[in-house]
Amino acid sequence: MDVFEGKSWISGKGLNHVCIGVEDGKISSVKKILKGDTHTNFHGVLLPGAFDMHVHFRDPGYPHKEDWKSGSESAAAGGVTAVVDMPNTNPFTTDLETFRAKESTAASKSVVDFGLGVNVDQDLTKQTWFDTIPAAFWKLYPYGISSDDFFSYANEVLDKTKKPLVIHCEHPDHMHNNTLNQLSDHTQNRLIAEPECLASMPSSPYLHVAHLSTFEGLNRVPKLATSEVCPHHLLLNLDNCKSIDCKVDPPLRTRKDNTELYDAFRSGKISILSSDHAPHTVEEKRSDNPPSGLPGVETMIPLMLNEVSEGRLKLERLVNAMSEAPANRLGLERGKIIEGQTADFMIVDMKKSLPIKLDQLHSRSNWTPFENWSAIFPSQVYRRGELIAEDGEIKQEKGGQNLF
Ligand code: NCD
Ligand code: ZN
Repeated sequence: MDVFEGKSWISGKGLNHVCIGVEDGKISSVKKILKGDTHTNFHGVLLPGAFDMHVHFRDPGYPHKEDWKSGSESAAAGGVTAVVDMPNTNPFTTDLETFRAKESTAASKSVVDFGLGVNVDQDLTKQTWFDTIPAAFWKLYPYGISSDDFFSYANEVLDKTKKPLVIHCEHPDHMHNNTLNQLSDHTQNRLIAEPECLASMPSSPYLHVAHLSTFEGLNRVPKLATSEVCPHHLLLNLDNCKSIDCKVDPPLRTRKDNTELYDAFRSGKISILSSDHAPHTVEEKRSDNPPSGLPGVETMIPLMLNEVSEGRLKLERLVNAMSEAPANRLGLERGKIIEGQTADFMIVDMKKSLPIKLDQLHSRSNWTPFENWSAIFPSQVYRRGELIAEDGEIKQEKGGQNLF
């Protein structure tokens, strides 16, 4: 048994000085005193590893933007020990064959554990594999689809599913693509797409709303649905981020939207934090027709830990939103420092706030909207008891597993 001794976040109890015993990738014991084969007295605090249920690792299809190696290393360095990858790769993850191919690529390259989202397409619920495919969830996009089909697919899947349906809720009829001269033009192009979409979504406990971005949308989330918010919709707005590079779907909005969403996040009304890590290269972002999307899997936890250290967010709420709540939502028993759970954790010095520098990041996109923002990166990150990242350096190759 390996023993880690120091201040740890124990779910329901807060920070306590304890010994955590790790055996075969699991937390085998949490006690005041423990004797093991190895004994590490750590500095700082030990928190559960984060579970980011919304990333785009671009593999297969767009290895120049990211692949499972670079994406997962970016996750690991930022304290994220498990991710769910979205299906808009090339080919899309839409059936058993594309699913199995991506699963095998991920298993051969990813340093963090993972799940895969399956794309909602016509006749999804009629497929022979619908009930058995080991997907984390179904994902419905509003691109290249009529609004009739969009809402009818959502209703049909919600009627038949036992898994979450994650929706990118922007109404297909309200997503305009007029030319951008400045970032706010993109916001104007999708001004009411989110609330209009949410107003027409049925209420279901299986519905999960991805990346909420507006106050109006927040107020229209169907009663039984869950939701997530990303750091960029809490911290960035059209005043503090003017570059067209920051084009993202749903778009950045106003300071007021940040504040309202942050209040809902603080209260737990928005229960989950996710990154919507959507890397594109600098060249693509600077082109005449820049794609939407911001990288974020590596900066998400460091930025939010800095929020905690500056008193704007409670550690308890962050730990819940980054670890327990997403795992719970997807039906997994993980995300807590208690006996019997997976030994995924990070060690963090809450006093070590430093500006984010591009050369410390691992994503192939090679840019961030958060350059020079203060952040607290984990000093060590463990996946199933193994050290995978230390002070930004990756310590393991691959080894990630499908959690579903
Ligand atoms: C996503 C991407 O790049 O894959 N971009 C984004 O702005 N969020 C696609 C998407 O989810 O819309
Ligand atoms: Zn996304």
